[in-house]
Amino acid sequence: MKLNLIQGRRVILTGASSGIGEALASRLLELEANVLVTARRESPLIKLKEKYPQQVHWVSGDITAPSTRQRLIETAQEHWGAIDLLVNNAGIGAMGPFAEASPDRLELLMKVNFIAPAELSRLAYPLLVKGEQPALMNIGSILGHRAVPWKSEYCASKFAIRGLTAALRSEWKSEGIDVLHLSPSTTDSQFFDQAIENTMQRNWKGNRAMAPKRVAEIALDAWVNRRRDVLLTPGGKALVWLDRIAPRIASWAVTRWG
Ligand SMILES: NC(=O)c1ccc[n+]([C@@H]2O[C@H](COP(=O)([O-])OP(=O)(O)OC[C@H]3O[C@@H](n4cnc5c(N)ncnc54)[C@H](OP(=O)(O)O)[C@@H]3O)[C@@H](O)[C@H]2O)c1
Repeated sequence: MKLNLIQGRRVILTGASSGIGEALASRLLELEANVLVTARRESPLIKLKEKYPQQVHWVSGDITAPSTRQRLIETAQEHWGAIDLLVNNAGIGAMGPFAEASPDRLELLMKVNFIAPAELSRLAYPLLVKGEQPALMNIGSILGHRAVPWKSEYCASKFAIRGLTAALRSEWKSEGIDVLHLSPSTTDSQFFDQAIENTMQRNWKGNRAMAPKRVAEIALDAWVNRRRDVLLTPGGKALVWLDRIAPRIASWAVTRWG
């Protein structure tokens, strides 16, 4: 691992107030990166600023608002003039049958999980181009590779961000921007408690969720080693592999256990 390369790098990180984003922020700061963190909840961002006053800048706000995204870019421009990494991590979920859900559920999930990271990436592009070995990292999901029932809008949003990531990987290659897609499996964060809707009673998290700290370690390792598409768990890899070689069996399995 070349984690020593992280010292002094300039990173914009969304969804830094809990879970994977909070773990990523902490690890990046321990490794002496400069990090511009954002989320709606201010107090976790302020705590990071208090602990690492020289390394942290923060902007609070809803990432679906163009004004929040603009403030992020202006803050990075003002302090650094360039960025080396943008991590699009902020995300939300919703669980329950698609046919019974409101159109608002679909719209909000697409806005947070797809439109916001897509538009922030576009805005960040001029700063990335000026960065040192720059990279874009989109936090997708294993459900952006293989969809499951009862999380239809979430799966759609994660398929969308994976598609965009693959296209940008080619488009931005000539500018030297690495484009990574990270696909966590179930992670032990606030994700399920914060879901905007859950119309089914079941234990979504299960008892084998990965610790956010572990996800953060893998993400940073992927960044410094310039990996492209990272699946984090044997179960996730098995599902994607099964879907490729035997899609009907994969469909049967997710319908039965998904
Ligand atoms: N947990 C899992 O099982 C799992 C599995 C695969 C992929 N993922 C992905 O991992 C990423 C991080 O999720 P997590 O598990 O760490 O969940 P989490 O603990 O709920 O964290 C989500 C983060 O996103 C931020 N966020 C949500 N909506 C926002 C909005 N409208 N504007 C600004 N920030 C917003 C939250 O901050 P505020 O609430 O303070 O705004 C929070 O910091 C997501 O993209 C998720 O889809 C999670």
